[in-house]
Amino acid sequence: MPQKLFVTTALPYANAAFHIGHMMEYIQADIWVRFQRMRGAQVNFVCADDAHGAPIMIAAEKAGKTPQAFVAEIAAGRKPYLDGFHIGFDHWHSTDAPENHALAREIYLALRRNELIDVRTIEQFFDPVKGMFLPDRYILGECPRCGAKDQYGDNCEVCGAVYSPTELKNPYSALSGAKPELRSSEHYFFRLSDPRCVEYLRTWTQDGKLQSEVANKVKEWFAEGPDGKIQLGDWDISRDAPYFGIEIPDAPGKYFYVWLDAPVGYLASLKHLLERRGEDFEAYLADPMLRQVHFIGKDIVTFHTLFWPAMLHFSGRKVPDNVYVHGFITVGGDKMSKSRGTGISPLRYLELGLDAQWLRYYIAAKLNARVEDIEFNPEDFVARVNADLVGKYVNIASRAAGFLAKRFDGRLSADVGVEGRALLDALRAHSATVQQLYDEREYGKAVREIMLLADRVNEYVDAHKPWELVKHESQRAALHDVCTVCIEAFRVLTVYLKPILPALAQQVEAFLDVPPLDFAAAQRALGGHRIGAYKHLMQRVDTERLDKLFEAPAPPPPAAPGGEAIAPEIAIGDFAKIDLRIAKIVLAEAVDGSDKLLKLTLDVGEGRHRTVFSGIKSAYKPEDLTGKLTVVVANLAPRKMKFGVSEGMVLAASHADEGAQPGLYVLEPWPGATPGLRVR
Ligand code: MSP
Ligand code: ZN
Repeated sequence: MPQKLFVTTALPYANAAFHIGHMMEYIQADIWVRFQRMRGAQVNFVCADDAHGAPIMIAAEKAGKTPQAFVAEIAAGRKPYLDGFHIGFDHWHSTDAPENHALAREIYLALRRNELIDVRTIEQFFDPVKGMFLPDRYILGECPRCGAKDQYGDNCEVCGAVYSPTELKNPYSALSGAKPELRSSEHYFFRLSDPRCVEYLRTWTQDGKLQSEVANKVKEWFAEGPDGKIQLGDWDISRDAPYFGIEIPDAPGKYFYVWLDAPVGYLASLKHLLERRGEDFEAYLADPMLRQVHFIGKDIVTFHTLFWPAMLHFSGRKVPDNVYVHGFITVGGDKMSKSRGTGISPLRYLELGLDAQWLRYYIAAKLNARVEDIEFNPEDFVARVNADLVGKYVNIASRAAGFLAKRFDGRLSADVGVEGRALLDALRAHSATVQQLYDEREYGKAVREIMLLADRVNEYVDAHKPWELVKHESQRAALHDVCTVCIEAFRVLTVYLKPILPALAQQVEAFLDVPPLDFAAAQRALGGHRIGAYKHLMQRVDTERLDKLFEAPAPPPPAAPGGEAIAPEIAIGDFAKIDLRIAKIVLAEAVDGSDKLLKLTLDVGEGRHRTVFSGIKSAYKPEDLTGKLTVVVANLAPRKMKFGVSEGMVLAASHADEGAQPGLYVLEPWPGATPGLRVR
């Protein structure tokens, strides 16, 4: 019976281009899928953009786009990466697609019918200027422990303290600068602490389907504390409007938290694919022979091993059969985290003309079935590709192809003699081991095994010296045998490497003039077959080109002599977003209770006056400013301050370290400027 597999990779957030971490996950899964297909499995391999959530909504707003347009643009950029690295997804979808809206609601309603949804009132920080509840990462303030400024709402990067946003001193919104207010709101919870869920998940996570280190980690959620309680608590699955997401049925203004509908996107993507092909989605999933496999990174384990199986099981659906967790790839020790797009760019890799299969091979050579990080090391990369992949494997073909073409019209000998047959039998005997290693995701071991086999072939060639045999007509039959063994061995090794090197394998199939290679093909001899013309198969890595990959796309900002470094380069469009206007200071006044601020009443040529609070009291007396012209940022979001709302910002020059180097200089235009003129 051919295996039926439904395979996914994690759905990437649709707020940025792919980084090498994404490519590593796709390469790992793609190799597995290609391997399973080569041994006859029927696989549906899908992914999608994870479109929803506050960060994407906010990023879209900043870019001046609707969230839909914003994620569509990201989605439009995916193809060159996927095609470029030979990632063979059958379908790429979006969690904002109609299938996902419908499925997420269906699953939720089933959970509700199962009495696993609770509504509770919780208190949360609210941004009064933006008019929205703030996710923790958008609340900044002073660390309650060490007092460090501008720390995030959940932990301090200076002293490492962990706290809740309500404990921050002088909290402010990262979005508007406003002081957040505590407000209460109704939230929807998935009752994971229900004994039914706890019971189910305890078994599901510990019955052998997970990697042992993953199962052990997840176990901690079920360990009873001194109070007899376990860590696994109910899960807050709702967010208040405004939110980019899926509206919760019968709950106006409430949306599913992005992590509720994100994994549902696996099903939505599959559904879309099957329906496009005219197949029945529910029937497909109901097949008891179907195996559902998710490839994910180590940072999203709880979502996939607790929340997701519980959502599926208690809504009466099929649960995953495996969740395969990998570690992170680092470049120079740096994890390509969600927030910082560091590391080498996969697209630049392709643009530089570096072969995608080198990276596939290198990553495969480093991967195992455990949750271990791997480091991209350029020297190691060059060594493995040049010495092993090209030096040991690719070269086998070129060592024999020329002689075969010139001396034997490209025809393989019918039989190869005892020694040659013994070598080929030995190579073929490794098929089961190689297959098992692929199946277990022990790609590094598989590659090592295959390279050892390549060594044996090269030793055989070195021992028989075809370049000597060719000099003696009496050795013609021996030469024919040696070259035939070479080509047969190369074909077997190509089968073994095909999941990793799909494009190269295709070239080899054309060169050998054979149908697509699979594991069964490796077991048969070609005896007497005429091969095609040899074309160069793969280059060695050119280290100069590889070096370019590590050159920063833009030079680091030069430090001004003795002063502040220049900020990263921006495009003219970025500057154009800032609307600078000439303003007349109609009135400047001291502010009661503030030793920093002056209250300015400005005429910006709008037929009304604006109020701007400016931290310039240390440098100017109010009466010196009244009547003067200056420059103001006119399209800055209004900011609610202790003394009132500030509707703009006056420009002034200062040192980076104002405390150590005082001096503050408000800008003033040359004579002739009038209020309202734009500065550009
Ligand atoms: N959107 C969520 C996943 C939702 S799945 C229903 C998400 N997106 S992500 O873009 O941040 O990450 C996508 C995948 O890339 C995750 O599996 C993550 O672990 C993986 N990686 C992110 N950085 C990585 C490395 N540096 N190395 C390897 N994989 C890494 O999480
Ligand atoms: Zn601190």
